Amino acid sequence: MGSKNRNKGFIVWIDLRDRYGITQLVFDEKRTPKNVFEAAQGLGREFVIQVKGKVIERESKNPNMATGAIEVLVNELNVLNPSITPPFTIEDDTDGGEELRMQYRYLDLRRNPVKDNLLFRHKVNMEVRNYLSQSGFIDIETPYLIKSTPEGARDFVVPSRMNEGKFYALPQSPQTFKQLLMIGGLDKYFQIVKCFRDEDLRADRQPEFTQIDCEMTFVEQEDILIQFEGLTRHLLKEIKGVEVDDFPRISYDQAMKIYGTDKPDIRFGMCFKELNALAQGKGFGVFDNQELVVGITVPRSAEMSRKEIDALIDWMKRPQIGSKGLVYVKCNKDGSFKSSVDKFFSSKDLESWAKHCEAQAGDLILILSGEKKTTRIQLSALRIELATRLGLRNPFEFAPLWITDFPLLEWDDESKRYQAMHHPFTAPKPEHIEFLKSDPGSVKANAYDLVMNGNEIGGGSIRIHDQKLQAQLFDLLGFTTEEAKAQFGFLMNAFQYGAPPHGGIAFGLDRLVAILGGEETIRDFIAFPKNNSGRDVMIDTPSSLSQNQLDELYLKSTSKK
Ligand code: AMO
Repeated sequence: MGSKNRNKGFIVWIDLRDRYGITQLVFDEKRTPKNVFEAAQGLGREFVIQVKGKVIERESKNPNMATGAIEVLVNELNVLNPSITPPFTIEDDTDGGEELRMQYRYLDLRRNPVKDNLLFRHKVNMEVRNYLSQSGFIDIETPYLIKSTPEGARDFVVPSRMNEGKFYALPQSPQTFKQLLMIGGLDKYFQIVKCFRDEDLRADRQPEFTQIDCEMTFVEQEDILIQFEGLTRHLLKEIKGVEVDDFPRISYDQAMKIYGTDKPDIRFGMCFKELNALAQGKGFGVFDNQELVVGITVPRSAEMSRKEIDALIDWMKRPQIGSKGLVYVKCNKDGSFKSSVDKFFSSKDLESWAKHCEAQAGDLILILSGEKKTTRIQLSALRIELATRLGLRNPFEFAPLWITDFPLLEWDDESKRYQAMHHPFTAPKPEHIEFLKSDPGSVKANAYDLVMNGNEIGGGSIRIHDQKLQAQLFDLLGFTTEEAKAQFGFLMNAFQYGAPPHGGIAFGLDRLVAILGGEETIRDFIAFPKNNSGRDVMIDTPSSLSQNQLDELYLKSTSKK
């Protein structure tokens, strides 16, 4: 495929590109047959050609190119297919905007950055397969046309032509099937599998994405953590050449307290320090009577100007974050303090805060107050933003950790009932089962997430394998006995036939690959991704169906067109 063509009248150079790189072709009026030379003059960008010639040493070598020492002096040329002018230049630094490149994704795939990401994904994929296969896991495919599995998002549904008014759902994950495989005695299962979730999209979310889905029987949480820490460590070593120590483990409660999130980035400090005891009761209304007063220390930032701090406050007040304000304390290099609350607090007070926040001279302390949950979320966003600005989030450093002891249930204010924090098949900690009735909100689960560089890479749990306990959970989640039976009767039945204890995990392959590749946007690692509105602009879908198709599926058209 010709990419860059240069024509000097008596000599034509062509950069011939294929998956493996670029080779320079040379057509020389003096040394190339006349008809071949003339044909070469008519070649354009992206033509597909076949050539025969002699590999010769280049006169002026290009040390920056793998093939920079040679060129091919061509004596036969066959144009296999010409090309019209591409809509953007197919080079590493292209002039094509995101939307245009998505529309012509097959051309974008010809560019090195995109191609390399897919080769990288392939490498990770193969390492995962080999590792799991060697560890005794077997790759089993589960169906795509299934019944809804509640993983917290909406289902994509498929109408059935043969069953009027009935629908399949595409799996949000193979959760129930992998549990049935365990009941079927398959013991150790894995699958690199597409999952479908109709949810709002972000840089780390696609409506269809890929999981490395795994399940094992006769295991406890510890066995799973060890097994999959092993896989992650193997990938870091083989793919990135990085050796990491044992992964830290932090409980969900600790993570929320120290980082305000259950997917903390621990490549840098800036841990939360709670200041209630030191900052309340001194007449400052913004702090007094609040559930939480909490601060972070921003290293080497005491010299931030008033204007910069105001901009930061505005950033915090945006609706996406929704903070009412932000208190700052500058720990000046000369040992003095300057804060936005000097009127209410003495220098001694500020000094005690600085000590508690482990702030050094030259650091800046930023403090929020309010209701615990929202304040933590807001401060967590600020922590990540500032660490990014300060360059503390090095994409080539990898900081994996486990978050454990998740609550089993989460109260949903809208529906006024509990929802499963992970999914309804997650087992409560055995010692907490007795509180399911009296205090469901306090029950912790044997559930865990693998987090790396501030991203949730994977999540899993030990499952319920007892029919009665599963029925109790469905009841707590607001399912009537009939509803539970209609939706999950197959699983509840299966539990009655000697279901072994089991548990598992699923990694988000797209996220894992992106993080290992030093990025956070998973789209760049997917051959044909959807855009932010869930559209594939290349094939132009979602799209309408013909009246015939709609009729066959017993669907009414609601399209205005
Ligand atoms: P969970 O819902 O936590 O668990 O999903 C597992 C992992 O899948 C990735 N992920 C996504 N990646 C891209 N786009 C999305 N829309 C998306 N949603 C999730 C994340 C996440 O950690 N059945 C359970 C697993 C189990 O219990 O074994 C499940 O699906 O990296």
